[in-house]
Amino acid sequence: MALTIAVLPGDGIGVEVTAAALRVLRALRGDLEYEQADVGGAAIERHASALPDATLALCRRSVALLFGAVGDPRYDAPGSARPESAIMGLRKAFDLFANLRPVKLIWGLEGASSLRPELLRGLDLMVVRETTSGLYFGQPKRQFEEDGVEAAVDTMIYRRPEVERIARVAFELARGRRRHVTSVDKQNVLETSRLWRRVVAEVGRDYPDVELEHLLVDTAAMQLIRDPQRFDVLLTENTFGDILSDEAAMLTGSLGNLPSATFGAAEHPSGRFGLYEPIAGTAPDIAGKGIANPIGAILSAALLCRYSLSDEPSATRIENAVAAAVAAGARTRDLVRGGGPALGTEAFTDKVMTAL
Ligand code: IPM
Ligand code: MG
Repeated sequence: MALTIAVLPGDGIGVEVTAAALRVLRALRGDLEYEQADVGGAAIERHASALPDATLALCRRSVALLFGAVGDPRYDAPGSARPESAIMGLRKAFDLFANLRPVKLIWGLEGASSLRPELLRGLDLMVVRETTSGLYFGQPKRQFEEDGVEAAVDTMIYRRPEVERIARVAFELARGRRRHVTSVDKQNVLETSRLWRRVVAEVGRDYPDVELEHLLVDTAAMQLIRDPQRFDVLLTENTFGDILSDEAAMLTGSLGNLPSATFGAAEHPSGRFGLYEPIAGTAPDIAGKGIANPIGAILSAALLCRYSLSDEPSATRIENAVAAAVAAGARTRDLVRGGGPALGTEAFTDKVMTAL
């Protein structure tokens, strides 16, 4: 029986970039079953839920999830169901705690970055972000009134096992890379960070061959634009990782360039279950215009091949095809500085297909 891939385009440019990624993936893996389902605002509209049961059921029988993006300003009203609860719900439902965001410069795009090219040569870091705990999920989490004054609370909580397991992911990854882990926290202020730093240091003792450094999150944000090449694996809790990974993405020239893979405890009998998504978001300002950068989505399909299908040849082919298209001059609008000629999403994907 063919393996199933759940295709979850979601909202905004998620639709366009997922179509591009699917085109590339189908060309190499026509043997798979691709099944599409609604998530996010699109699902609220049609099923009154950001993560309908039918979507969850599809995900349960799939070996991997190809995800676009969720979010829609139309659902910003207080009390409204939020499209974002789809991605948070998936992370929670499958215990997808380890979000990997590889930040690599595609040579040729250094001019699109806001940093000078000499700071970018050799840029190759991996953000390892915890995605099932911390501020995103801690309780209580609500808005209320306190002595007639509006107030709101979110709770940042980490438990030892949650820190241990994400730290292990980071150290294991570092062993296959440059053997350096930078753990990010705010231990001068936050109790959760003091626990985080202590537990990460403990786990680190099991990896004497990997160098561990601790950075405060504000320093990490500064170092990322001062000297990004100093980083190998960047280990962070949920909220810090969300912020730092957008910053890191911009080093490569555009938020649209970055893919991600998320793994957890969930297993699939035929491969490593994972969720694959570009980190860019829905970009409501350009949604539906056919001009979004599909690189992050296409590279997410490459990660899907590598990790969930153990198909390294397809992964490498996709990555090489994107690099070749860029080398041949293909650029979407976000990658052109000063307003030169740019390709739309489909035309750019045509170039990738040709290179494939
Ligand atoms: C991301 C996104 C999500 C997050 C949103 C859509 C909830 O920004 O994956 O980085 O903050 O985790
Ligand atoms: Mg984000």
